[in-house]
Amino acid sequence: MMKIAIFSTCKYDREFLEKYNTGYELVFFEAALSLQNVVLTKGFDALCLFVNDRADAELMMHLEQNGIRLILLRCAGFNHIDLAAASEAGIKVLRVPAYSPEAVAEHAMAMVLTLNRKTHKAYNRVREGNFSLEGLMGFNLNGCKVALIGTGNIGKAFYKILKGFGCMVMAFDPYPDPSLAEEGLVYASLEEVIGDADIVSLHCPLSDDNHHMINHITLKLFKPGAMLINTSRGGLIATQDVIDALKSGQLGYLGLDVYEQESQLFFQNLSEDVIQDDLISRLISFPNVLITSHQGFFTQEAMQQIATTTFANADAFKAGLTLANEVSI
Ligand code: NAI
Repeated sequence: MMKIAIFSTCKYDREFLEKYNTGYELVFFEAALSLQNVVLTKGFDALCLFVNDRADAELMMHLEQNGIRLILLRCAGFNHIDLAAASEAGIKVLRVPAYSPEAVAEHAMAMVLTLNRKTHKAYNRVREGNFSLEGLMGFNLNGCKVALIGTGNIGKAFYKILKGFGCMVMAFDPYPDPSLAEEGLVYASLEEVIGDADIVSLHCPLSDDNHHMINHITLKLFKPGAMLINTSRGGLIATQDVIDALKSGQLGYLGLDVYEQESQLFFQNLSEDVIQDDLISRLISFPNVLITSHQGFFTQEAMQQIATTTFANADAFKAGLTLANEVSI
């Protein structure tokens, strides 16, 4: 029986993976995969990894030595896996290309609504008997301009939600979707869409080309006081530059579901610890910043889809079938 070592697991991962297992021996590890614990992979045929399990060239060498032949990603993004090294090591990498684009798009909208209408503050105020509206004023989403950076599965799902709210949506994508253009989505350059928008939302994958695409230069193009939402990958944003833009008021609101250094923080309860990351501590201190710890995907539907596709990928590998969800260089 094929043995799979599953890293970065929480109770909910275990629950869904056990429920939809199609006949593999599963061993769950809470820790993220690293050079320190790569020895644990000995004796397994496959690994199952999540967004913060980094597999670089050095780690891949150890995996090859330990006999790993397959990496099953429980996510869509693969920026954390060295695909060239995997190919050299003869290790196939399979992913879950789309689990629930609506889950992430709906979370992006939740962030927009919370930042705009300050429901998180209202919730706390009312519980303390404070029924004042001071400081809670928002703006109408109906008629406001939104820029989508990336119009793949998630960008498309968010476009539909935004249209329902009556927003005027523009987009930048190096590969525009003709069906969305037909529906009325206006594509333009990155500079144009950023400069015209009240809300900018990132939905593109992280690559070497767009690392820190939101930086002190592109932030100057933003409308003063605009909102930035990132549910994509932390590395798209130069965090210190965004902090500077928040301090100057150039950026009016920031919603982050991802953060460049999130692997040290997210998915863990650190409430008893002193946070050593000064950038996230500074971000948390702003009244107009909302941070969630990579929970955009986290719905029942998405968890089920992740589990079923992960095992369908393993089944295809085992049966020697075409690997539809393989990622390679
Ligand atoms: P997708 O592959 O369907 O679409 C990505 C789109 O981005 C494509 O249309 C592509 O042409 C475009 N693109 C590529 N480079 C670009 C650039 N430099 N500027 C603008 N557009 C660019 O991917 P999908 O499913 O829509 O996911 C998008 C990203 O969302 C993923 O790569 C992942 O990083 C993130 N994600 C976050 C989750 C969360 O829980 N917060 C869950 C799932 C994905």
